[in-house]
Amino acid sequence: MKNNNLLFTPGPLNTSTTVKEAMLRDLGSRDYVFIETVKEIRTRLLALGGVSKDQGYECVIMQGSGTFGIESVLSGVIPQNGKLLLLINGAYGNRMLKIAQRHSISHVALECAENEIPDKHEIENYLRSDASITHVAMVHCETTTGIMNPIDEVGKLCNTYHKIFIVDAMSSFGGVDFTIPQAHIDYLVSSSNKCLEGVPGFSFTLANRAHLEQTKGRSRSLSLDLYAQWQGLEINGQFRFTPPTHALLAFYKALTELENEGGIKARVERYRQNYELLMSAMVKLGFEPYVHEKLRGHIITAFLYPSGDYFDFEMFYSMLNQKGFTIYPGKLSRVDCFRIGNIGQIYEKDIRSLLEAIAAVINEMIQKITV
Ligand SMILES: Cc1ncc(COP(=O)(O)O)c(C=O)c1O
Repeated sequence: MKNNNLLFTPGPLNTSTTVKEAMLRDLGSRDYVFIETVKEIRTRLLALGGVSKDQGYECVIMQGSGTFGIESVLSGVIPQNGKLLLLINGAYGNRMLKIAQRHSISHVALECAENEIPDKHEIENYLRSDASITHVAMVHCETTTGIMNPIDEVGKLCNTYHKIFIVDAMSSFGGVDFTIPQAHIDYLVSSSNKCLEGVPGFSFTLANRAHLEQTKGRSRSLSLDLYAQWQGLEINGQFRFTPPTHALLAFYKALTELENEGGIKARVERYRQNYELLMSAMVKLGFEPYVHEKLRGHIITAFLYPSGDYFDFEMFYSMLNQKGFTIYPGKLSRVDCFRIGNIGQIYEKDIRSLLEAIAAVINEMIQKITV
């Protein structure tokens, strides 16, 4: 098998060898060591969110990818007579809309352009004028473009108008410096294989216990029942259905490595430096980012296709891939873009080698059309 490519994607990401090695162990799901590991992971995840059990928060781990976690929350916490306000500016906001539709959850969607953030006054108008809204959901880093949505401002509004705030922090948790209390978040969802640098296999929700306790029997799903999953983990420390044991062992190691790196602040700094190096060099190479600088995050960047005749994305992608660098296609509805992520086990030297490869590939592509 070919050696690993460097992944400049939104996930799955490059993980350390030691994280992968942590999976070289078969543990039964009722093994004491496994149960203790899960307990420790749940405690540490709360701490990373700036909360604890004593402060009234719970961590619920759910098998499956990030979307499973989002679906477990949307289909599990909104009562039949509740109503969800969805703030949408990209594919992952739209995915929440699809989940709401699939489960016949009463909802209203406030959508804006993919390179803009929802207007604070418009959100406030909805909250003020529609008393039937009970929950508000928003993506933090909309990975479609890399735009950062203003969760602090929206959280403040939710707090003022007594709405329950759900945040998809899939690609920001662990890679952006924020806390649950600061953004008044009631349900935060993220996954094992993004900025915490574990392998794919599960998502997790950090939940306000006072709200979670009221959701018994609300879930529209059996396997994704958030309340039942929480109760299972609380009662005997076990999952209701087969847990991703190997992914959890890897994740435990990944959390230790995050601590050794210096915690979230140090990781944010590494990702930010990756981003700054990438941005300045890409602009020099003639690429234009899709999102305005003041709204751009440091997780992933969407670049517009350059206008020259030489550029063909499929060719660009496969030539980079052959050189050992995997970038990511765009996911925008109206504009042609590709994306480059800065997260995972990616360091300055990796960004520099990617930039050299991009410059070489562009030269080769230009030469191809001039001969
Ligand atoms: C913001 C956001 N939400 C949801 C998801 C969906 O996660 P998954 O593909 O793990 O289901 C992603 C994946 O990249 C994401 O970036």
